[in-house]
Amino acid sequence: MTRTDYKNAVELLKKYAYHYYVLDDPITTDEEYDILYHQVVAYESEYPADIISDSPTQRVGDVPQDKFDKAQHLSRMWSLEDLFNREELETWVNRITKVYGDVRFYCEPKFDGASLNLIYDNGALVQAITRGDGVEGEDVTQNAKTIQSIPLSIDYMGRIEIRGEVVIFKEDFEKINEERLKSGESLFANPRNAAAGSLRQLDTRITASRRLVFMPYGIGANTLEIKNLSQRMEWVYALGFRNPHMTHLCESAEDIERFYHEMRVERDNFAMLLDGMVIKVDSIAVQDELGYTVKNPRWAAAYKFPAIEKLTTLREVILQVGRSGVVTPVAIVEPVDIEGVTVERSTLHNFDEIERKDIRIGDKVIILRSGDVIPKIVKVIASERTGSEQIIPRPAQCPVCGSELLDEGALIKCQNMGCEARVVNSIIYFASKQCLNIDGLGDKIVEALHSAGLVHEVSDLFDLNMDQLLSLEGFKEKKSSNLIDAIAAAKGCDCWRFINALGIEHIGEVASKTLCTAFGTAFDTATHEEILALEGFGKEMVESILEFVRVNQSKIENLRNILQPVAPVKVEASENPFKGKSVVITGSMSVPRDHIKAMLEVLGAKVASSVSKKTDYVVYGEDAGSKYDKAVELGVPLLTESEFRALTALPDSTSAAEGTAVKVKNSLFD
Ligand code: IVH
Repeated sequence: MTRTDYKNAVELLKKYAYHYYVLDDPITTDEEYDILYHQVVAYESEYPADIISDSPTQRVGDVPQDKFDKAQHLSRMWSLEDLFNREELETWVNRITKVYGDVRFYCEPKFDGASLNLIYDNGALVQAITRGDGVEGEDVTQNAKTIQSIPLSIDYMGRIEIRGEVVIFKEDFEKINEERLKSGESLFANPRNAAAGSLRQLDTRITASRRLVFMPYGIGANTLEIKNLSQRMEWVYALGFRNPHMTHLCESAEDIERFYHEMRVERDNFAMLLDGMVIKVDSIAVQDELGYTVKNPRWAAAYKFPAIEKLTTLREVILQVGRSGVVTPVAIVEPVDIEGVTVERSTLHNFDEIERKDIRIGDKVIILRSGDVIPKIVKVIASERTGSEQIIPRPAQCPVCGSELLDEGALIKCQNMGCEARVVNSIIYFASKQCLNIDGLGDKIVEALHSAGLVHEVSDLFDLNMDQLLSLEGFKEKKSSNLIDAIAAAKGCDCWRFINALGIEHIGEVASKTLCTAFGTAFDTATHEEILALEGFGKEMVESILEFVRVNQSKIENLRNILQPVAPVKVEASENPFKGKSVVITGSMSVPRDHIKAMLEVLGAKVASSVSKKTDYVVYGEDAGSKYDKAVELGVPLLTESEFRALTALPDSTSAAEGTAVKVKNSLFD
């Protein structure tokens, strides 16, 4: 790569990232981005003096800080006056229109996260400061640089403060908590805490992993001449910041009220939490004349949405036993209305989490619900305790079958495979959308079939007949024959559905698809090494599959016979030196190793993770270690990356940057 190639590659990466993180409209594949990114990394490590400061590689540092320094904002960061109803809105609007006549109001979402002030000078991001007390905050510049929707450089040379809210998408918040649950860490109460906590991590690599998003909402110190806020914000979006999209210039309180209700309807459809709508006078001149109170600007207000966090009382805790035997505590609370939905239950995750939060029956608790955020207890109001609250004991017996539970700490499990709850939930799972997608076989019907003694395990479903179904309450001719047809239609299903429906621990839809592509319906004959070599498979997953196969071999065979699942047709690789060979890849290559692996798989090779006498080739890159030594010791033929490419007639990595290697791969898949 020449210096000019490098500069072009950096520009292209920035463009790709802008489309992905700011416009939500990717213009390339992850694979193509990765290839180019690695080429840029390779060039930068060879010519560190050439590194362009806003190269995407410069976002994540690798030395954790020991504290954050304090830093002053160039101009004060204000709070907002809250408005809660139409009357308060009208009073607020009248106070302004009485003096200034026809004023226009710029309305935009109020994002629920952590505020951040970005200082740009000479086109570069020079400092990022948390709000703090409004005058002085903490310098979190290194962390802010990891946020992909914060441009490292802008096309404006003056000194300017761009302000906004750092948020976490609801979907990412759930994922972070799932991960934390798995690793036994305490959970974030809500996306706002998750965003604020992630922004204040001393290790930037943690911040980088949290997928924070910056939503701009204003400008601090500046020397701009643009006279209206709405135009200033358009200018900010055009600099490369995200556009919140739902913004509007309103002319009256009535107009504001209408737009406020529109936004409330849309609230759940936003990827992040909103807690209201912010109303700001559009004219900068009028803003300046209105000025500020001690805390707030007189030209802006927050018209709050109804809370999604409400106070209620924990009445009791019930225990649910899932198909894998895990016992999950569920809170039954005094019903509360949260944005039009009555919440009566909330997940308590597990007993470690109950103990960590010290949740007791009878406690006053704050509960959170927002569209796709599962209702959860955010915190306990311990100061409201009367002394009559009861500690929630860890269960020792299965609430359904009474057998002794295995307490593994975070997880408590019923080990009785015949436990009614486990059986019924396995059948419900088997019939669910992500498995065999059997129409009409929902929770209630499975429970009815089971309690009538008609279905004890999934294979019994396929023996059901009309007479049996007609004997059940609520089943007439039509409903019975529809169900029998729907069950029969599961035969000949896609192979991955069959694997997923087995309910193997740690093996979900994605893993089932990978297994199916690699081994077809005979996934149960694959070896430890073969499974471990698959993309996204770790030791725990491999062991779970092998153990499942060992214990359930006859069940798998029986279901395979009944279902006759269909594997995708494999494209036979044309003749080449790697077809049918076992290959190990080691050391670093010009592209991520996964790409070389994908190329080999397309060529019909099996990619293994360790070198043995059965290995046909070892393809090695820089810093190859013990696998290289082992190959030398066993006399396994060694190939450099370019020797490998020469043998396959695949182009080398410079042309891969133009997408050729990817295209070769795709054309073989087609
Ligand atoms: S304007 C000049 N606009 O809400 C007024 N703030 O309650 C200062 N926030 O500290 C803020 N979305 O962290 C403004 N569209 C928005 C906002 C917003 C979220 C946060 C911000 C501020 C707090 C005030």
